[in-house]
Amino acid sequence: MDNYVVEMRNITKVFPGIIANDDVTLQLKKGEIHALLGENGAGKSTLMSVLFGFYQPEKGEIYVRGEKVDIKSPNIAHELGIGMVHQHFQLIDNFTVVENIILGDEPGGFLVDYDKARKEVIALSTQYGLGVDPDAKIEDISVGMQQRVEILKVLYRKADIIILDEPTAVLTPQEIEELVEIMKNFAAEGKSVILITHKLKEILAAADRVSVLRQGKYIGTVNVADTTEAEMASMMVGREVNFKVDKKPANPGEKVLEIKDLWVKDQRGLDALQGLSLYLREGEILGIAGVDGNGQQELVEAITGLVPIEKGEILLQGQSIVNERIKSRINKGIAYVPEDRQKRALIMDFRLDENIILKSYEKEPLSKGHILNQEEINKKGNSIIEEYDVRSSEGIDTIVRNMSGGNQQKAIIGREMDLKPLVMVASQPSRGLDVGAIEYVHKRLVELRDQGKAVLLVSFELDEIMNVSDRINVIYQGKITGNVIPEKTTVQELGLMMSGSKEVDLA
Ligand SMILES: Nc1ncnc2c1ncn2[C@@H]1O[C@H](COP(=O)(O)OP(=O)(O)OP(=O)(O)O)[C@@H](O)[C@H]1O
Ligand SMILES: [Mg+2]
Repeated sequence: MDNYVVEMRNITKVFPGIIANDDVTLQLKKGEIHALLGENGAGKSTLMSVLFGFYQPEKGEIYVRGEKVDIKSPNIAHELGIGMVHQHFQLIDNFTVVENIILGDEPGGFLVDYDKARKEVIALSTQYGLGVDPDAKIEDISVGMQQRVEILKVLYRKADIIILDEPTAVLTPQEIEELVEIMKNFAAEGKSVILITHKLKEILAAADRVSVLRQGKYIGTVNVADTTEAEMASMMVGREVNFKVDKKPANPGEKVLEIKDLWVKDQRGLDALQGLSLYLREGEILGIAGVDGNGQQELVEAITGLVPIEKGEILLQGQSIVNERIKSRINKGIAYVPEDRQKRALIMDFRLDENIILKSYEKEPLSKGHILNQEEINKKGNSIIEEYDVRSSEGIDTIVRNMSGGNQQKAIIGREMDLKPLVMVASQPSRGLDVGAIEYVHKRLVELRDQGKAVLLVSFELDEIMNVSDRINVIYQGKITGNVIPEKTTVQELGLMMSGSKEVDLA
């Protein structure tokens, strides 16, 4: 029999209205990278929260290094050498890296040897090639770096069983490659890693074995060397998944959105957009390809009215909108799926129905003369959760915080699509979605296009950009440096444009 470093046997975890884990077994070998795969809401984060002592299971047993354990709290998990990097980071923005790392690990209360801790953080960062600046404030470092801080936190507590919940969802392709190396170093040292991800390519690149959950149930475990993307996808959703987006050639009409010589400053006052110009036509999906931090965020926020512009023009159907307020832009037909769903799109402690009507509650029939019509709101909420397959334990009454990450995302997409926008600005719309849900969202974006609407798709995933877009603009240092069509370019050429080594215009 194998010697497992962790064995979760017959775990059942129930929330009101839903069995999140239904008799699940997971066996983790020492020194392996073990992927955990499953649809949005399949129960992955819940299972890991059970292992991390955050939830107590109703049934089942956990063995760590062969000993039966009772993980009553995350503190006990720490003592057992189990560390977890959560799906949504838990760092304090205006604290430094070191402060965040020692937070909650102050032995004997408050007296911390800061210098010693700082030295240790530097040593760990060097040992694993993390390159983290110990004195930087969290708010000043990139998302990729923030994640490394979370990883350092786990290492600082001497964990050798490391759970990473969707660590790559927010990373750029380059950062993903680096993270894979970091995980492989851990494994080579005898640490064991559980990796939750929706990206099948990553599983092939990084993991030794993969276990699959579907609707709370354990489906099976296979060796990564013996499986394929198609097999993993069908294990997880119970049907074949179409990775290629089915669509007819676009039939673009008039320019619906036009941006001319746009200048926008970033939070630090530097020019993030430096004379950016682009156009978007009715009936087309324009993909914006680029390395994170080249002005994508400022571009979408300038269009939606979230940031002020320094100079330039944004025209919607020929009319300037630069002086319009956010709400008026929404009413004029601009929908927005933001990159950071928890900060920008949802009110986490509100119910799902309240979140669904956030942008439309002032309109009939949802309200009349400032009075909400709850019956109509229920109808709207239910139709969106049905149409977009938003799964949660208590339907429209669910508090959004209690929903799985991917289901939060599906709800936002449903809400924004339901606005029947002229222009859909979608920033990383498939982030955190399972392959089945991605297929669905892509289909809906294409449908929107086929109704003559325009879609601006900002994505770091080149596969997504290539598959879904009708035309691609490359953004580099705050300007558009490439204007190409997917059939006439390659991922390699896009890469050259994204790094500023090449410029192409369709003409
Ligand atoms: N604290 C909670 N209270 C009530 N229900 C919950 C809670 N946490 C999770 N759930 C429900 O349990 C189910 C499993 O959720 P979980 O977060 O484990 O899914 P997941 O596999 O991590 O999905 P995703 O890929 O979307 O992150 C979902 O239906 C979710 O709504
Ligand atoms: Mg999850």
